[in-house]
Amino acid sequence: MQLVLLGGSISRASVMTESRDNENSLIRRVASFARKCLFGILSVGPIPNHIAFIMDGNRRYAKKNNLEEGAGHKLGFTALMSMLRYCYELNVKYVTIYAFSIDNFKRRPEEVQSLMELIREKIEGLIKEESIVNQYGVRVHFVGDLKLLDESVRLAAKRAMVATSKNSKAVLSICIAYTSTNEIMNAVKQSCEEKWEEHKKLGSCGTTNGLIDYAEKVGRKGNNFIGLSDIERHLYTRVTPPPDILVRTSGETRLSNFLLWQSASSLLYSPSVLWPEIGLRHLVWAILNFQRNHSYFEKKRKQV
Ligand code: FPP
Ligand code: MG
Repeated sequence: MQLVLLGGSISRASVMTESRDNENSLIRRVASFARKCLFGILSVGPIPNHIAFIMDGNRRYAKKNNLEEGAGHKLGFTALMSMLRYCYELNVKYVTIYAFSIDNFKRRPEEVQSLMELIREKIEGLIKEESIVNQYGVRVHFVGDLKLLDESVRLAAKRAMVATSKNSKAVLSICIAYTSTNEIMNAVKQSCEEKWEEHKKLGSCGTTNGLIDYAEKVGRKGNNFIGLSDIERHLYTRVTPPPDILVRTSGETRLSNFLLWQSASSLLYSPSVLWPEIGLRHLVWAILNFQRNHSYFEKKRKQV
């Protein structure tokens, strides 16, 4: 059947689509207003500066819902976008996500390939002007041993870092080809190389005694001349402060080689939902827990 509206002929289907779109847009506006009120109340207390996420349970979600392989990770990305929106609306300055660990390379080659393809496609999406990172002024930073990635993914990551380098309101760190042990090992190696160069410049000879003389010259005793600050200066994550909250979904309480150095004083939160099921209520609960423990964590951090 045809309806004649405004002098034109519009089908019943297109009228229905338009009215559904209006309804959805109204629901979105009401939800956004409700969030604004909720976040206004939450912001009376301290808001975390940095939240880190281990997005676990994507394959289990696909299996549980009889979806095709890979669909769990796609829905996982959608869940991530909502979570980022909530964090930025709450003025959380730093968000770090575990997108792909070095251990994940041991998965079946087809799975690694399709995950890499998804990650590449989504990184390209982040560069677009209308993307969430440009909407909220977020600088994207890739963290990990990027040389382990396929060239196409590595180049997309570099393009995203350059394209968002002028955004200054928040930082999104995407850990990819990352493990903490690799990060720490790399930082130790870089620190040793740096010290060795300084040592050569000071003219000490390359013997143990030479190194000890050098340590004394630069004001440190014995062999203890690589300090905490040297390691921290060389961590891939050096641009971000330690996370206040570390969330791992799917009820797992392992850190799986993620931010081991940085999470010494972080609040750990492990909701039982699978990553694609994570929602606003989990974030609110994590922040309420953070606020309840805030003075304890502050004291702890000052002692470190
Ligand atoms: C862990 O779930 C998640 C991953 C290995 C990858 C998650 C990646 C995304 C959601 C895309 C991110 C993309 C960008 C550009 C940031 P799992 O595979 O271990 O699932 P399981 O625990 O059920 O086995
Ligand atoms: Mg997993």
